[in-house]
Amino acid sequence: MIQTKPALGGSFSFQKTGPTVWRMGYGAMQLAGPGVFGPPKDHDGAIKVLREAVAAGVNHIDTSDFYGPHVVNKLIREALHPYPNDLVIVTKLGAKRGPDASWLPAISAAELTSAVHDNLRHLGLDALDIVNLRIMGKIHEPSEGSIEEAFTTMAELQRQGLIRHIGLSNVTSKQIAEARRIADVVCVQNHYNLAHRDDDALIDELAASGIAYVPFFPLGGFTPLQSSTLSDVAARLGATAMQVALAWLLQRSPNILLIPGTSSLAHLHENLAAAKLNLPPPVLAELNAIATATNH
Ligand SMILES: NC(=O)c1ccc[n+]([C@@H]2O[C@H](COP(=O)([O-])OP(=O)(O)OC[C@H]3O[C@@H](n4cnc5c(N)ncnc54)[C@H](OP(=O)(O)O)[C@@H]3O)[C@@H](O)[C@H]2O)c1
Repeated sequence: MIQTKPALGGSFSFQKTGPTVWRMGYGAMQLAGPGVFGPPKDHDGAIKVLREAVAAGVNHIDTSDFYGPHVVNKLIREALHPYPNDLVIVTKLGAKRGPDASWLPAISAAELTSAVHDNLRHLGLDALDIVNLRIMGKIHEPSEGSIEEAFTTMAELQRQGLIRHIGLSNVTSKQIAEARRIADVVCVQNHYNLAHRDDDALIDELAASGIAYVPFFPLGGFTPLQSSTLSDVAARLGATAMQVALAWLLQRSPNILLIPGTSSLAHLHENLAAAKLNLPPPVLAELNAIATATNH
């Protein structure tokens, strides 16, 4: 059932003269040590995964200076600098790591400004293509509350030329609307996958405005997706469960961009190949029922 589809899921152009990327990208978070803290177990393996992703055509890499902290950005620089012209590195600000590996909010103007400079230095760049303001909320779920102050700082950093385009992460529809009154938002990165579909309405809302939606935990994150329906569908299609989960996201909406994370070359190739998998309507209906079952 593998059919010819556009390479890496076809392209998407970020609005307001933003760059164009393939819809299938790569999330670099898993390259840090256990718990996204400290150096990787296999440094050379991490470098190979990054180089192989770019060699396979990936031109959208998601990162943050708080992965490690600093570790993942330094690996990206070591593996890929000087960067290919079309490579878009998307990073994020808004958190810092405690000595016990905890994730702490860091959204004061001083913290955001110093984090931009950390990202620039560790990635070896003069300006950052796209930067998401990550709101801590309930860690992996957003919670309401004004983001005006922090987003105004992001707009100021953009005015200074340190950030080209701004995105948001772990936010609600209300917070996105509040931010868009201050400056343009080109992408939103929230928790979403086949089994976790709180953002269904938001995805459609953003699609209508040309804003990219980039799900984090597309494969379930620290707890990989498991479902007998998913496994059955995958077996019937001659694919893996993870490929079906990624193909479902690509077919869910044209504004969805994927950044599956892996530290494994084999998984990287498996995930990229998911862009060629076509899910016919009856299969989509079966897969849609997974979320219905999970949410009841
Ligand atoms: N904005 C935010 O708050 C936020 C939060 C979390 C993540 N992110 C970003 O989103 C990206 C994606 O999220 P994620 O990496 O946490 O989760 P994910 O992509 O849902 O899943 C990654 C996990 O799945 C495993 N995996 C990957 N491909 C696989 C395959 N083909 N078969 C079996 N297992 C596979 C990986 O292990 P192996 O290494 O063994 O392959 C890893 O444990 C991150 O890399 C990061 O850039 C953003």
